[in-house]
Amino acid sequence: MKIALGADHGGYSHKETIKKHLIERGFEVKDFGTYSLESTDYNDFAIKVAESVRDKLYDRGILICGTGIGMSVMANKVKGIRAALVHDLFTAEATRLHNNTNVLAMGGRVIELEKALKIVDVWVDTKFSNEERHIRRIKKIDGYKGE
Ligand code: RB5
Repeated sequence: MKIALGADHGGYSHKETIKKHLIERGFEVKDFGTYSLESTDYNDFAIKVAESVRDKLYDRGILICGTGIGMSVMANKVKGIRAALVHDLFTAEATRLHNNTNVLAMGGRVIELEKALKIVDVWVDTKFSNEERHIRRIKKIDGYKGE
């Protein structure tokens, strides 16, 4: 599995540790930045990661800002992206089983690092359930045109 990572200054330090962790686990990882603690706009990293997943350059994306909220809202603007803002292990698993989410968003100022790593592992390792009712619901998300 190929995983794209992105963070703003609020998620930078979590992102660095998650990157090491995923590489140690044998995943191919692309780090789209940010590369320091200097203040940045979360939007720019969310778009880069989300578009790279949309374009199938990477299988999944992980985004971290201070709260995870800006990242998840921005990523969900990209067609084909289903980004989940996750704070615990239950929703990390449920959003893979039920929503087949392709982007995980977390808050670096909300979740302790050890817990964030556990969330990453559960989210990466859980396969979509492929149950008919969940497929139907995902089609309603992806098929919604807006406007
Ligand atoms: C940056 O201060 C902060 O607003 C950002 O990291 C994120 O929490 C936005 O949703």
